[in-house]
Amino acid sequence: MKKALFTISVIALIALIGCKHDLQMAITELNGGSDTTVINPPPPVDTMICFESQILPLFVSSCAKSGCHDAITAEKDYILTSYQAIMEEIVPFNPNNSKFLEVMLLPATENDAMPPLPAARMTAEQIALITQWINQGAQNTTNCANTCDTTQFQYTAHIKPIMSTYCNGCHQGTSPSAGINTSTHAGLSAIAANGKLVGVTNHLPGFSFMPQNQPLMDACYRTKIQKWVLAGAPNN
Ligand code: HEC
Repeated sequence: MKKALFTISVIALIALIGCKHDLQMAITELNGGSDTTVINPPPPVDTMICFESQILPLFVSSCAKSGCHDAITAEKDYILTSYQAIMEEIVPFNPNNSKFLEVMLLPATENDAMPPLPAARMTAEQIALITQWINQGAQNTTNCANTCDTTQFQYTAHIKPIMSTYCNGCHQGTSPSAGINTSTHAGLSAIAANGKLVGVTNHLPGFSFMPQNQPLMDACYRTKIQKWVLAGAPNN
C-alpha cells in the first residue's frame, strides 16, 4: 500500500513537472512565440480549484456556444455543459493527455485549435487554471466553500476574473457577440455606464440573460459587479 502511494506520488510529481514545462511553452506561444514578453501565470493556488464555479462556466462560455458544442449543434458529439461530458477528454492528474486542454494550446492556425478562429485564444490564466484543476485530480467539486467577499470589488482583482470565467468566451477578440468586449476595462465600463451589465447579469426584465444559456451567476459575484458599477466602474 505504501509502495503504491509512493508510486502514485512520483507519477503525480512527474506529471506536474512535465506540465509546468508545457505551460511555459503555451504561455510563450500565447505571447506570439517570443520569450521577451512573458505573461506571468498566477501563483499556484494551495486551495482546491472549484469545478462548479471556476471550470464549468469557463467551458460553457468558451466551448458550448451556439454553432459549437452546445446541445443543439453538438459538434463532434460534444455537448460541453456538464462534468461528465468534459471528462470525456480530460485525464485526471495528466494534463498532457487531456485532449480538451491540448486543443486549447495548439497555435490558432492549426485545424484542431480550440476555440477556432475568429474566437480569441484562451488566456494564460485560464490555461493555468484548467491545468491546475487537472493536476488536482479533475474532481467534480460543487457547492465549494464560498470565499467570495462582497466588500471587495476592485476591477483587476475581482471583476476582471469574473468576466474571464463567465463572459469573455463570447465577448472578446475580433468579432465579440453583440459587439461587446467584456475582457477590457474600456469595453466593460461602456456596458456598466449604460446599465446593461447590471441588467443582463441579474436577468432584469427587458435585458438579454447573461451569461447566455447559463443560470444566474452566484449572488456574491452579482453584488460585486453591482457595487463596482455604482462606484463608477473605476479601473482600479
Ligand atoms: C455563450 C456565449 C455568451 C456568453 C458566455 C455571454 N454572452 Fe453576452 N451575448 C451573447 C450573444 C450571442 C449576445 C447577443 C444576443 C443577445 O442579446 O441575446 C449577447 C449579448 C450581450 C449583451 C447585450 C444585451 C443587450 O440587451 O443589448 C450584453 C450586455 C452581454 N451580452 C453581456 C454579457 C456578460 C456580462 C456576460 C457574462 C456574465 C455574457 N454576456 C456572457 C453571448 C454570450
